[in-house]
Amino acid sequence: MKAVLLLPLLLVLCSGNVVKNDNERDQDWWETTIFYQIYPRSFADSDGDGIGDLNGITSKLGYLKELGVGAVWLSPMFQSPMYDFGYDISDFYAVHDEYGTMEDFENLIAAANELGIKLVLDLVPNHTSNESVWFQEALNGNEKYYNYFVWEDAVIDENGDRQPPNNWRSHFRGSAWEWRDEVGQYYLHQFVVGQPDLNYRNPEVVEEMKNIIRFWLDKGIAGFRVDAVNCLFEVDKNLFGGKYPDEPLSGNLDVHPDSHDYLSHIYTKDQNETYYMVYEFRDVFDEFTAKDGLTRVMMTEVYASIQDVMRYYGEGDLLGAQIPFNFDLITDVDASSSANDIKYTIDKFMTYKPVDKEANWVVGNHDNKRMATRYGPSLVDGMNMIVLLLPGVGVTYMGEELGMVDGYVSWEDTVDPSGCNTNDPINYADSSRDPCRTPFQWNAEKNSGFSTADKTWLPVADGYETLNVEAQKAAERSHYKVYQALAKLRQDKVFRYGRYDSVAFNKDVFVFRRWYNDETYLVVVNMRDTDYEIDLTYFENVIGDVSVVLRSIQSPKNEGDVFNASSVPVVGYEGIVLKL
Ligand code: GLC
Ligand code: MG
Repeated sequence: MKAVLLLPLLLVLCSGNVVKNDNERDQDWWETTIFYQIYPRSFADSDGDGIGDLNGITSKLGYLKELGVGAVWLSPMFQSPMYDFGYDISDFYAVHDEYGTMEDFENLIAAANELGIKLVLDLVPNHTSNESVWFQEALNGNEKYYNYFVWEDAVIDENGDRQPPNNWRSHFRGSAWEWRDEVGQYYLHQFVVGQPDLNYRNPEVVEEMKNIIRFWLDKGIAGFRVDAVNCLFEVDKNLFGGKYPDEPLSGNLDVHPDSHDYLSHIYTKDQNETYYMVYEFRDVFDEFTAKDGLTRVMMTEVYASIQDVMRYYGEGDLLGAQIPFNFDLITDVDASSSANDIKYTIDKFMTYKPVDKEANWVVGNHDNKRMATRYGPSLVDGMNMIVLLLPGVGVTYMGEELGMVDGYVSWEDTVDPSGCNTNDPINYADSSRDPCRTPFQWNAEKNSGFSTADKTWLPVADGYETLNVEAQKAAERSHYKVYQALAKLRQDKVFRYGRYDSVAFNKDVFVFRRWYNDETYLVVVNMRDTDYEIDLTYFENVIGDVSVVLRSIQSPKNEGDVFNASSVPVVGYEGIVLKL
């Protein structure tokens, strides 16, 4: 009786299809690569004006290739008066003159393609610049363009003075409304005054944005990172008698009353309509994929609840972003976090993620403190191991491969509106994003090899004389070399198809396992400066010896060292990749 029942089961287990892990499938280019973010103003300056540019990037593509990066996402390089350093676009169809010309851009794509590096641009759909033709035309009374923006009448207070329509606040402090005499109304700007919000309830705006997407996809780019996309729609004011309602207080009393976090953004963020707009944008991407077979990727920039972030993947038959940025390793954890916190944060994304979609891992960008600053320089290799060896897409902000830290930028040198608008020469640095945007560190020469100018747009961070590409390439062991090895290792089937589980062995030591068929790797990251001995046989099927494949630069181990899985010594802040 039993044998009869077991036989079909055995047959199933032994048939190739089932024993072979069934998630081995063709993977698309974006699923296995690393996306490397370049902030164009700070990467490489080719013409000596102290400002990075496109030709600078082109000249460094070989570096990226050698590093093992397969795709670059570029912060905006479109024409801009630079009130928000390129996120205020005055001409969506042109290259910013400090960064080069359209020809330079075409050269950049051609050179990247030649090396097999895909280029992804930054789409900024929520707003334009107040110096754009569209906004200028709106001020001139052109109705078509008036309707591109969000206008509202003033409120007259008891003294007869003009006041903004409601309490909505800009991300960069103060009212989100700015008065224009020419129109006799206020316009909405969720970001700086120079970034008037576009009106997504106007189909002509939607069509215009789709044409912008088409224009750049036509030039051969592989997709877009989509900026501030959860701000696209404001609540429908017709539901409130034709007036935009006040937002409630967040209850967060630690923040300045003028700051964005003082309010709870129930009317200006995460509106239901936004998701459907993203799915419509995705259809435009897919028009191009249908033509030439190359998948165009969408990466959405949204800081929101995990449930809301997941909606960007799509819903039912409606497709959204392949890569809704997972910012949890930026927002939920830092140097003070325990191994348990790290595990919990990683599991959070894995738990909510649709089972048929890829995860992604991000530890830094041009809006947040650098990874090595947030986690501490000792954890650079450990964090890169996490980003590059977990299942899914790895994203790197330029300099993370070197462990670049935030630079000091004095109040006088501060240019980021988020810092300047604090009007606070003492505490501005808490809000300023300049420190994570200081020039890339190429070598120990003038301006870290970034530029030959006498003054660069932001000062180079201290310590560049020893922390730079050239030094790390020359050193026997360096973050650069660990990163390069990780980029290679992640091409292995185990990391492409393998399953994942993890354990916080104690409050300090986080370990994850990747396995595929009979291959198993264990990645150990010690978050603290305490030594331990850990018993990896805690993981099911982990017994016998493990050997060191890679280790962080402070590790006393050597590649090839063998340990018994039941007692692996781990020193402070050590990161180790072990193979069973
Ligand atoms: C995004 C960008 C940020 C910019 C803002 C407004 O958050 O990453 O740099 O200031 O959008 O465009
Ligand atoms: Mg330049």
